[in-house]
Amino acid sequence: MADQPEIAIVLGTRPEIIKLAPIIRHCRERSIPHTVIHTGQHYSDSLNDVFFAELGLPEPEYELEVGSASHGKQTGEMIVEIEDVLLEAEPATVLVQGDTNSVLAGAIATSKLSIDLGHVESGLRSHDRTMPEERNRVLTDHASDYLFAPTDQSRRALREEGIPDERIHVTGNTVVDAVEQNRTLAAERSSVFDDYDISRGEFCLLTAHRAETVDDEDRFASLLRGAGRVADALAREIVYPIHPRAANAVDEFDLVIPDGVRTIEPQQYLDFLALESEATLVLTDSGGVQEEACILGVPCVTLRENTERPETLAVDANVLVGTEPDAIHEGAVEMIDRTPAWPNPFGDGEAAERIVDAILRDEDRMTVTG
Ligand code: UD1
Ligand code: UDP
Repeated sequence: MADQPEIAIVLGTRPEIIKLAPIIRHCRERSIPHTVIHTGQHYSDSLNDVFFAELGLPEPEYELEVGSASHGKQTGEMIVEIEDVLLEAEPATVLVQGDTNSVLAGAIATSKLSIDLGHVESGLRSHDRTMPEERNRVLTDHASDYLFAPTDQSRRALREEGIPDERIHVTGNTVVDAVEQNRTLAAERSSVFDDYDISRGEFCLLTAHRAETVDDEDRFASLLRGAGRVADALAREIVYPIHPRAANAVDEFDLVIPDGVRTIEPQQYLDFLALESEATLVLTDSGGVQEEACILGVPCVTLRENTERPETLAVDANVLVGTEPDAIHEGAVEMIDRTPAWPNPFGDGEAAERIVDAILRDEDRMTVTG
């Protein structure tokens, strides 16, 4: 039996694997006893296995295999299973990251036990309560003992909700750690441009997968028309690695992918980073992709009415355009020539170390004072 873990890391989806990888890596480098609990929210190879392989992560110690279901069923099953694991493993602290159902389940299960909860990427707010992610974030933040806010802006949001200062740690976002650790590898190793016959610097990159976008037939159709308009206006192909949720919606609603827009399989992280780095423009409804475009110096057009990443707007790296074709077209024309001179607002790539240090500092203090 391994040492009792100081830290249990709960994850379940693509962005959580990517953004928690620097923390897992850091724990391994410092031989800090830790364990990884995978809820199984994402299970397809292209959303899951490939990331463990290329980020050099070991297989999770616990695989809960919860899979897809309605929000309540999926979250409820995860809570039951996570509780069993926590009772067995007895970690001192549980870490969750972001805003998915896996995060909320990890937060609820932990907060019912005498185990500390740390929320990585705390204090993000879209103020759009129709998004399941916004509710997951708010609930998780208010259950947490450690709130790892990536920026001063996210700390302010937490203070405004009455969260005591001593629980909040501004650390930067681990997305910067991940980009810094992998961008050179991506440039050296990715064969994505040859594999798909894509010319560097002569294409735009699209991702759209959010429930509020792709589960609404009219909105998704409008977004696709807008993407087609941009491909025409900029005379550039739009490459769209398509998430299974979006691919299912295209089939179900029988939507037309416009000329100039090419769907491809969801990409591995290094290939996706290579595509992002070499795109002339990113169009997205993803949270992580807005951050990465900003860090990589690629202008971004966000296909939503709001964002929980306002730092990207403040530095002029991103515009919000919604899903109407005219607005998407105007946003793309506005952003395509923007000089990427903005600062990176998400930190210095040392977030994982700060997060682990904050937890261990408190655990040491508890041991000393009994
Ligand atoms: C989830 C998160 C979202 C996050 C996204 C990251 C919630 C509420 N949503 O959305 O915030 O941005 O992950 O990618 O937690 N599916 C597969 N293979 C899989 C997983 C899902 O084909 O491995 C398909 C299934 O048809 C499933 C659908 O995608 O019903 C949606 O999956 P789900 O986990 O409910 O949410 P995501 O859309 O992936
Ligand atoms: N990503 C990837 N392959 C893809 C699309 C995205 O590796 O085909 C990565 C991307 O680099 C980012 C993360 O997935 O780190 C974003 O995840 P997603 O858009 O699914 O979720 P969100 O950030 O919106 O929650």
